Amino acid sequence: MTTLQHLLNRNLEWATSVTDKDPHFFSTLSKQQAPEYLWIGCSDSRVPANQIVSLPPGEVFVHRNIANVVVHTDLNCLSVIHYAVEVLKVKHIIVCGHYGCGGVAASQESCDHGLIDNWLRHIQDVARFNEGELKGLQGKEKLDRLCELNVMEQVKNVCHTTVVKKAWRTGYELAVHGWVYDIHNGIIKDLETSVSGL
Ligand code: CO
Repeated sequence: MTTLQHLLNRNLEWATSVTDKDPHFFSTLSKQQAPEYLWIGCSDSRVPANQIVSLPPGEVFVHRNIANVVVHTDLNCLSVIHYAVEVLKVKHIIVCGHYGCGGVAASQESCDHGLIDNWLRHIQDVARFNEGELKGLQGKEKLDRLCELNVMEQVKNVCHTTVVKKAWRTGYELAVHGWVYDIHNGIIKDLETSVSGL
């Protein structure tokens, strides 16, 4: 069996460089994590949460799936939100989509993609909810807007989870934000859909 020795080497170099800068970095972090942010993003390899907001390990709790979808029956995502809010006590939940999202694009194609088509139905729902606006758009412009609308919809879905509703009901300070990352220039656009209470 081949080992991924090149990655292990890179890991060792990275860990050494971090320790060189701060000898206590790992020993401090190993005792607890206290991130202020929960990141819900796309699995796309070009959108790594910590890196694009320039935060070190320990600062962001992360959930990623194809096309950053928050589904009310997805126990994986709901458990992450639950743990982030009730145990880690994050102050912000960020839903971050990205332009050029393959999942969003695939949801608008008529061909068969296999199993993933079931997941992409959630994006098709978003397109249906916004049919009026989207029908005037074509090609890239339409897909870019659908990426934005998808984030806005998922922000609403986060806000309607039992966990977030309970947090707000009990006076817990928590804000939910919607962002879109541009893979062409590395810049994040704030969709200004932030919600801080119901
Ligand atoms: Co994507």
